Amino acid sequence: MNRTRPNPRTDPRWVAARYDRVAWCYPWLEKLFLVPTTARREAMTQLMVQPGQRVLMVGCGLGRSLPRLAALVGDSGRVVAVDLSPVMVAKARSLCARHGLALVDVRCENLLEHLAPSGYDRIWFEFSLNSFGDPQAALQQAWSLLRPGGRCVVLDGRLPPRLNWLTRRTMPVIRWLLERTVLGDPDMDPSNEVVRAGRSHQLHWFRGGTWFVATMEKSTTIS
Ligand SMILES: C[S@@+](CC[C@H](N)C(=O)[O-])C[C@H]1O[C@@H](n2cnc3c(N)ncnc32)[C@H](O)[C@@H]1O
Repeated sequence: MNRTRPNPRTDPRWVAARYDRVAWCYPWLEKLFLVPTTARREAMTQLMVQPGQRVLMVGCGLGRSLPRLAALVGDSGRVVAVDLSPVMVAKARSLCARHGLALVDVRCENLLEHLAPSGYDRIWFEFSLNSFGDPQAALQQAWSLLRPGGRCVVLDGRLPPRLNWLTRRTMPVIRWLLERTVLGDPDMDPSNEVVRAGRSHQLHWFRGGTWFVATMEKSTTIS
């Protein structure tokens, strides 16, 4: 990590304001950053959502994956989605209303303050870990919200390793660009954060080690 100034992502108001600003053009930004649909599909597969389960989506953004999650948990399950950005949340709520998803609860809330006494069977960080100023706190919070036997899946990305020679030289431009668009943190490798969290995990890589799906399972015997 090589920061020239404090990480602004530690301020939830700053994060919310940034995503509020880009919500209108977010689908195009995703195309610009060549996010592979295969990685999203793999994350959904790794989640292994079953009917009747309780699922938490961390950083739902516009909510594009919520209809699929709602269909998987069915009428006996529950999907809760949290996001810091009021504009993203409003858009995700109207998407749910359009799909008639009464059982999806979209909340404008910081994951780090989210309370769920009965816990979750599945937790999904869908391209959101990279926008946390303290990713270890986010993973720790997810772990404490996960029921024994539950699964946490992290879908995220990092700078393409093959382009190291280029990205090292252009870091100030990359930081500037990311902070004004999808907000991913080029100084943080979220796959390293998953490893640092110290939970047993599996990593699946896409596009030459740029995007990944990490799966962690909470033991049924350890709390
Ligand atoms: C890069 S966007 C991903 C949106 C969506 N999941 C997708 O894949 O298109 C990251 C989202 O995480 C949200 N986020 C960042 N920090 C958060 C936090 N502490 N609690 C809840 N949501 C957060 C942001 O507001 C933003 O909408």
